Amino acid sequence: MTTKMMQTVRVHQYGGLEELQLEQIAIPQPADNEILIRVHSVGVLPVDWAYREGLMKDIYPMQFPFISGSALSGVVEEVGKGVFGFHQGQAVFGRADRGACAEYITTKVDKIYKKPDGLSFEEAATISGGASTAWVALFENGKLLSGQRVLIHAAAGGVGSAAVQLAKWKGAEVIGTCSAANVEYAQSLGADTVIDYKTMAFEKEVQEVDLVLDAVGGNTLERSFSVVKRGGKLLSIAEVPSLKKAEQLGIHAQFSGGFAPDKAFETIAQLITEGKMKSTIAKEFPLHEIRAAHELCQTGHGRGRIILRVGN
Ligand SMILES: NC(=O)c1ccc[n+]([C@@H]2O[C@H](COP(=O)([O-])OP(=O)(O)OC[C@H]3O[C@@H](n4cnc5c(N)ncnc54)[C@H](OP(=O)(O)O)[C@@H]3O)[C@@H](O)[C@H]2O)c1
Repeated sequence: MTTKMMQTVRVHQYGGLEELQLEQIAIPQPADNEILIRVHSVGVLPVDWAYREGLMKDIYPMQFPFISGSALSGVVEEVGKGVFGFHQGQAVFGRADRGACAEYITTKVDKIYKKPDGLSFEEAATISGGASTAWVALFENGKLLSGQRVLIHAAAGGVGSAAVQLAKWKGAEVIGTCSAANVEYAQSLGADTVIDYKTMAFEKEVQEVDLVLDAVGGNTLERSFSVVKRGGKLLSIAEVPSLKKAEQLGIHAQFSGGFAPDKAFETIAQLITEGKMKSTIAKEFPLHEIRAAHELCQTGHGRGRIILRVGN
């Protein structure tokens, strides 16, 4: 019997772009409680290059070789024992633990969802680590309510662009920060006020917000403490904020992470399908150009999500 092979991108040691190696390996078999997905598209997340460079090795050490990529869409190729609710030929999207930058991936199904027909594979691959992260920050941790005011840093990014739209969908007033090149874009997503972070100090333009969603960290996070009203919340998806400072100011501050609930993935998919939310593809690269995709992601600038096209 001949082994069926697939193209993949593997990393054999921590390092730069050159560590992304295009390789042929055997197509994996789904274990019990897993499915095999033929991958269509993969969202390139900042954490993907952070893993590759070893920036997360103290918290999440990698076992080599590893295949990058967690945010995906594709078609179910095979269903392992013990899996219910999925069948061969079904279009799906969601999150795997890693391993998406390959023609096929085996994964458990706890964060895999049926893709609505009206949602493209590209759009679907932007959801995990983008809108799903925004949902967790705004609604699970931030408990954002209609009528509240929220400041969203990096409003044009993969997370921020979704956060602006989800906060508006909830009925909040949205203030966003981005560079001049993205101001009109952030406005088109529904932001009521947009601050160009390069020419304006946001803390001079906005005060007394109920919630800050920080996707930048560093100096931006530090300066954000002063704009939250007493009793309000400061959530960062980029860095752990100072709890001591939060206590002194009478606000709640925390790092926002973790997985979005099923309802988040399903609702976001539905909102995009119905045209109530936009998913922006910054640029699409074929899998073999993954180094260029990571390089672009590492600039930390741009709109929406970079996508890798793996299959058809
Ligand atoms: N905790 C979690 O679960 C979680 C999940 C996903 C992502 N993250 C983290 O969140 C961060 C953002 O992720 P992402 O996927 O949205 O990144 P991204 O798609 O690469 O977006 C980066 C955005 O940041 C903006 N930006 C850069 N410097 C800025 C500043 N000083 N002020 C305001 N905006 C600025 C850029 O806007 P311009 O182009 O206009 O400069 C760009 O739109 C990353 O650090 C990522 O690792 C955390």
